[in-house]
Amino acid sequence: MPLKFHRLWLPLLLFVCHLLADVPQCFHFTWVGAYENHSNIIAETCNSRVGDFNDIPCEEPLVVTPDDTVPDVKALWQNATEDRENFLCQMSPGRSCVKYSYIFKGGIQNITYMCANVNNSNGCYRQTHATGMVVEACVCTSQVGLIPCNGGSNSQISGATGLALCLLGLYQWLNK
Ligand SMILES: *[C@@H]1O[C@H](CO)[C@@H](O)[C@H](O)[C@H]1NC(C)=O
Ligand SMILES: *[C@@H]1O[C@H](CO)[C@@H](O)[C@H](O)[C@H]1NC(C)=O
Ligand SMILES: *[C@@H]1O[C@H](CO)[C@@H](O)[C@H](O)[C@H]1NC(C)=O
Ligand SMILES: *[C@@H]1O[C@H](CO)[C@@H](O)[C@H](O)[C@H]1NC(C)=O
Repeated sequence: MPLKFHRLWLPLLLFVCHLLADVPQCFHFTWVGAYENHSNIIAETCNSRVGDFNDIPCEEPLVVTPDDTVPDVKALWQNATEDRENFLCQMSPGRSCVKYSYIFKGGIQNITYMCANVNNSNGCYRQTHATGMVVEACVCTSQVGLIPCNGGSNSQISGATGLALCLLGLYQWLNK
């Protein structure tokens, strides 16, 4: 690769990465878990499921998945035809991405993804109730242009690494 290419493209790459990096996002929906009659889900609301004033997290839209498996958020993020904005919120300053999972005997019952103001720093917190129900809350900070951090693994990518990955990805793409 001649040096000239780098001189020409690097500012553009930086610019594109900056654009992509503009607004970090979080996933934002509730996967209701195993659900009896999938065609019924459109009639459901958070209010009908958990009521108005309580501590159980719930975020519309409510989502069911084929075979009631945990949502494939990577596919959701990568699927351009999906109406993705419906399932995303903007991680504005002061907010974090949060993922609440209700886990019973190792099985995930439901998951709520959201943007929220939380006092906790990044990481996962578990609470076990007397019934054996475990509630796990994972807090994280999304990076611009990357898949929202509350999608899955709890690994943290620093901002610098995020930018580097973005540059690398674009660079490889341009050199295809
Ligand atoms: C599922 O829900 C739909 C919509 O509410 C209803 O029309 C249908 O009869 C239900 N099917 C079963 C098997 O309960
Ligand atoms: C998630 O599962 C827990 C335990 O079964 C339940 O109490 C809660 O209402 C569920 N949340 C939603 C949004 O359905
Ligand atoms: C993308 O989303 C659309 C609309 O939900 C769906 O019909 C399609 O199968 C999805 N494509 C992939 C590759 O998941
Ligand atoms: C978060 O911190 C603020 C200010 O320190 C405090 O007023 C608030 O009660 C805290 N909220 C929770 C849920 O701990």
